[in-house]
Amino acid sequence: MTKPLPIPAAADAVTFDFAKLSGRERYKLLIGAVVPRPIALVTTIGLDGIINAAPFSFFNCLSADPAILALGVEYKPSREQKDTGRNVRDTKAFTVNIVSDAILEAMNVCAVPFPSGVDELEQAGLSANAGRAVPCPWIAESPVAFECRHHSTLEIGTSREIILGEVVFAHIHSRVINLANLHIDPAKLDAVGRMGGHAYAPTRGAFDLKTMSVEAWEEFGIAANRRTAISP
Ligand SMILES: Cc1cc2nc3c(=O)[nH]c(=O)nc-3n(C[C@H](O)[C@H](O)[C@H](O)COP(=O)(O)O)c2cc1C
Repeated sequence: MTKPLPIPAAADAVTFDFAKLSGRERYKLLIGAVVPRPIALVTTIGLDGIINAAPFSFFNCLSADPAILALGVEYKPSREQKDTGRNVRDTKAFTVNIVSDAILEAMNVCAVPFPSGVDELEQAGLSANAGRAVPCPWIAESPVAFECRHHSTLEIGTSREIILGEVVFAHIHSRVINLANLHIDPAKLDAVGRMGGHAYAPTRGAFDLKTMSVEAWEEFGIAANRRTAISP
């Protein structure tokens, strides 16, 4: 049974051969199109004991068992590692703090390219809670924080490393989670995503669109394929 959706077909498309693009051009196409990206505000600690915090939107959850989070960390133009990459290499740990609307501007302070000795949490007015299993702190104001032990690093090229971490502890504000069913309320989490350029996207206004069974699709068709208010 054919059930066309009312989606306009593209009249024409421009095709890019990635082999012929510069790194900058590939970056622009990717960050403009792969949106919204979740933002990890990553806390680490150096061998000198100085805390570091920096946001990363080349970030995602890649596996639940084992629980693996991935970060794409660029090298500096000098080809040295950013403070985050260096600290993960040295201490084998990092913590991912989820960025909510309430801490978006504080996150932006953490993106300032301060010299290595500067504690970005102090600059941003964010509070550091001691980690349970890792030496790096988690951010008290962040609604969710995942302590990660370094799993592995993929050295994929000269411009960026991909760091994988295994989550060993999570800290979740009790107002955002229903402990009876482990449901995290997206409205209370109020996460913000990164778009291309300097743009951000709120998650307010999120809705449910349930995945249908074959039976529901065959019996109800587009009537089963409806957006609804998020169920608690
Ligand atoms: C929202 C946002 C997302 C970012 N995502 C990345 C990223 O995925 N990878 C990266 O290398 N830098 C990213 N940056 C830039 C780093 O946060 C910035 O270079 C930071 O100063 C690095 O800090 P560090 O040297 O303390 O690790 C992002 C910046 C912002 C504001």
